[in-house]
Amino acid sequence: MAEKEITETSEAQIAVHWGEEAYYAPSVKFIAQANMTDETIYDRFSLDNFPDCFKEYADLLDWYKYWDEILDTSDAPCFKWFKGGLINVSYNCVDRHLAKNSNKTAIHFVPELEEEKVEHITYRELWVRVNEMAAVLRDFCGLKAGDRVTLHMPMVAELPVTMLACARLGIIHSQVFGGFSGSACADRIVDSASHVLITMDAYYRGGKILDHKEKADEAVKIAAKQNQKVDKVLVWQRYPGKYSAQTPMVDGRDYFVNDLLKDYYGVRVDPVKMPAEAPLFLMYTSGTTGKPKGCQHGTGGFLAYVAGTSKYVQDIHPEDVYWCMADIGWITGHSYIVYGPLAICASSVIFEGVPNYPDAGRCWRIAQDLGVNIFHTAPTAIRALRKIGPDEPAKYDYEFKHMTTVGEPIEPEVWKWYYEKVGKGKAAIVDTWWQTETGGFLCSTIPAIKPMKPGSAGPGMPGIHPIIYDDDGHEIPPGKGIAGNICIRNPWPGMFQTIWGDRDRFVTNYFARYCKDPDSKDWRDWPYLTGDAAVMAEDGYVRILGRTDDVINVSGHRLGTKELESAALVVEEVAEAAVVPIKHEIKGVEPDLYVALKPGYHASEELAKKINDALVREIGPIAKARKVWIVSDMPKTRSGKIMRRVLASISNNRDVGDTMTLANPEIVEEIKKMVKG
Ligand code: WTA
Repeated sequence: MAEKEITETSEAQIAVHWGEEAYYAPSVKFIAQANMTDETIYDRFSLDNFPDCFKEYADLLDWYKYWDEILDTSDAPCFKWFKGGLINVSYNCVDRHLAKNSNKTAIHFVPELEEEKVEHITYRELWVRVNEMAAVLRDFCGLKAGDRVTLHMPMVAELPVTMLACARLGIIHSQVFGGFSGSACADRIVDSASHVLITMDAYYRGGKILDHKEKADEAVKIAAKQNQKVDKVLVWQRYPGKYSAQTPMVDGRDYFVNDLLKDYYGVRVDPVKMPAEAPLFLMYTSGTTGKPKGCQHGTGGFLAYVAGTSKYVQDIHPEDVYWCMADIGWITGHSYIVYGPLAICASSVIFEGVPNYPDAGRCWRIAQDLGVNIFHTAPTAIRALRKIGPDEPAKYDYEFKHMTTVGEPIEPEVWKWYYEKVGKGKAAIVDTWWQTETGGFLCSTIPAIKPMKPGSAGPGMPGIHPIIYDDDGHEIPPGKGIAGNICIRNPWPGMFQTIWGDRDRFVTNYFARYCKDPDSKDWRDWPYLTGDAAVMAEDGYVRILGRTDDVINVSGHRLGTKELESAALVVEEVAEAAVVPIKHEIKGVEPDLYVALKPGYHASEELAKKINDALVREIGPIAKARKVWIVSDMPKTRSGKIMRRVLASISNNRDVGDTMTLANPEIVEEIKKMVKG
């Protein structure tokens, strides 16, 4: 606890010294065409009108049957939205658009290699593919509503096809980020008890074709050791009809999807009428302790929330071309590449590759060639593009009306480059703050109603009521310049339903801290703890400072320090490990790893490399440490707790403060010398 207090105090002090940035107004042209210009939306979604206000979002969808109860709190804090309603997500994202928009492009797939053709998939074509894939899942795999399937797929059009095919049948998909290792995939297979794994043979990244199928073999092997048998591995082919991986197919277990589909040409699968409160998908994320948590998202509530926010915050119209550069393996891709945009009949771009391949102009060429006018990315990509090609955007003929930043705090300087250079001073920007758990945006401006403020995410979304608590549970009023723990007072339809198979962890992690009565069935007693520190300005705009728990945000990807430390401890020689975030120009932060060895072992370059390799092997390349410091001992409290705060100060070249209370203060000097070189 003492450790935590110190971090939070220093964050608050930073906040006090911040100047407020000036507002930027959206252009008249933007406002004139915007989907939401009615300021009374904030009144309609006030707490007085809660929870009925959310009918407005649900009415953007087609329901087989309306709900009996808009919000069921009887199992608080596991809230059920639109209870009794019947709906199908695949129907809403595909079928219902056929009447008017059959020939409209649903998905533009942009391969990484520029010499390969862009694929434009119409709503009609998407419908055909989703039906046939659903037939494979139902008739070949024997899957039905409620079963879980693990997907480990790269950024290809086959990924949304597979997700929508699952949704058509009520099968719960769990897509694992393609860059994750086979071992990370195995953990998720085991936790979700999946019998089917769907993957792809290979994909391009940075100009190289990567063998992806080998990760599937590894995942299945590791899962089997933990008693989770995968019966079938379905393998999409990057080039249909050709196998692009080296790893052999396993007879009786591995199947090429393109072969299977041949047996289902022309088959149409009726969408299953799913209860609104049925789970739609799991998305694993790093949390405070131990293993990743499977955030369980529901059907009707989730889709209503992402459809509403795609329409009003992303400002997507049928004639727009919308490009979100996130990976579908993260929540941003689920909510704002696939489900939200398709629910409102958008044309959504899926880009296979990295933004800087083959050069710093790639993104802007894609925007120019496809006529992209809404662009959505993360600060880490913006920083990278600014560094490698600050003047590139001006060379291309595109015009964004709207841009999004998401995933980490954005520095006002970087925001201004995004606004001036990428947006050419014409695009409205939304800084959307939210989380895997929350399904959709928590704080953002509504672009035609509220002005932008660089570095601030904006006020709570309509119907989302943020509050900042200090450690004792007192509200910190807006405009105090003091940081605290940002919470949301009320539930909302996009929020996750629970942690898969672990209700206790759900309650403890997210609600216990500020809940006054654990038996209460009143939503007012269950503020949602986000785990972020934030300050709220006088105008209600929120500035996010970062995580207060043991999570570090590398390039907008959440990694648990415990996960990284556990991966280091897999190495025989390692006795103790501690990960701290270190500032990085492009990634925001990256992990710095400290380890102490078991007696009898000695530090060496090779050992440091072996430990870093273990992080990459166990988790994936994004987990790689900047440096592995092999130290003779960790700085510890008298009770034996590793003082990560001290290590973080050393890594970031900050004052370590008073260390006299440590059990071994002398170690601090030794480590300092080592790190400073
Ligand atoms: C951080 C990504 C500042 C925050 C959607 C949050 C942000 C974590 C922003 C969730 C933003 C996300 N400004 N920080 N606009 N958006 N974050 O689960 O710390 O991958 O708790 O969801 O990212 O990351 P996650």
